[in-house]
Amino acid sequence: MQDKAAYIKSMFSAIAGRYDLLNRLLSLRQDTAWRNFAISKCDIEPEGLVLDAATGTGEMAKLLMRQNNDCTVVGIDFCPAMLDRARAKLQTAIDSNTFHFIQGDVLRLPFADNTFDCATIGFALRNVVSIADAFHEMARVVKPGGRVVSLELTQPSSRPIRTVHHIYMWRCMQLVGTLVSGNREAYRYLPRSIAELIPPQEVKRLMERVGLQGVEFHRLYFGVATVHAGTKTQYDGQG
Ligand SMILES: C[S@@+](CC[C@H](N)C(=O)[O-])C[C@H]1O[C@@H](n2cnc3c(N)ncnc32)[C@H](O)[C@@H]1O
Repeated sequence: MQDKAAYIKSMFSAIAGRYDLLNRLLSLRQDTAWRNFAISKCDIEPEGLVLDAATGTGEMAKLLMRQNNDCTVVGIDFCPAMLDRARAKLQTAIDSNTFHFIQGDVLRLPFADNTFDCATIGFALRNVVSIADAFHEMARVVKPGGRVVSLELTQPSSRPIRTVHHIYMWRCMQLVGTLVSGNREAYRYLPRSIAELIPPQEVKRLMERVGLQGVEFHRLYFGVATVHAGTKTQYDGQG
């Protein structure tokens, strides 16, 4: 378990400089639309306080602030190189200082229960050691009535499209990722992690198990990405 965390941290350290570019290229420039769709499920109140778990280079945090310009965003990630990119990017991209980037573990969030109005996690369910623990922590720190929203790369459900997607993942993604990042292993890991991720129905069940209600999921672009969203009720943090 610990090995996976160390592996993930060192992989993202190695590709931090090219991460945003590759995100754009490999999603065929759809990543921003997917993130904006996820943010539309956050129902953020004016002056809301939002947690972006596994924030990486802060792309989700940036769009959260653009769509809700009076909210405050706290991004947390355990990879310092990704956070350095996030800080540098948001200092120039966002005309306010209501964002904070903190180094820390999503599986042990350093925040009190019921702190945030909403918590997001983008493209990171595949990377955490325990999806259940990540949702447990996100649900714990969100206030009752607050939303927990995930965006993740997934596999299309339709068989023919899945076949095309499979070829795209194992040929194009791997080739372009390796050439642009110079890191072959990272872009072998990417398709493997998508293929190994539990299906959306199971993600939904995990969210429900930590006390989130009304959990819905939306498959985007034939299911190559999926957004899950649920609302915290009177969860007591013990589940
Ligand atoms: C694919 S990137 C996603 C970054 C960003 N959320 C986005 O939307 O582009 C995955 C991120 O998850 C982070 N990560 C994985 N496990 C983590 C954990 N347990 N605690 C904190 N960060 C974690 C990695 O360091 C990496 O920055």
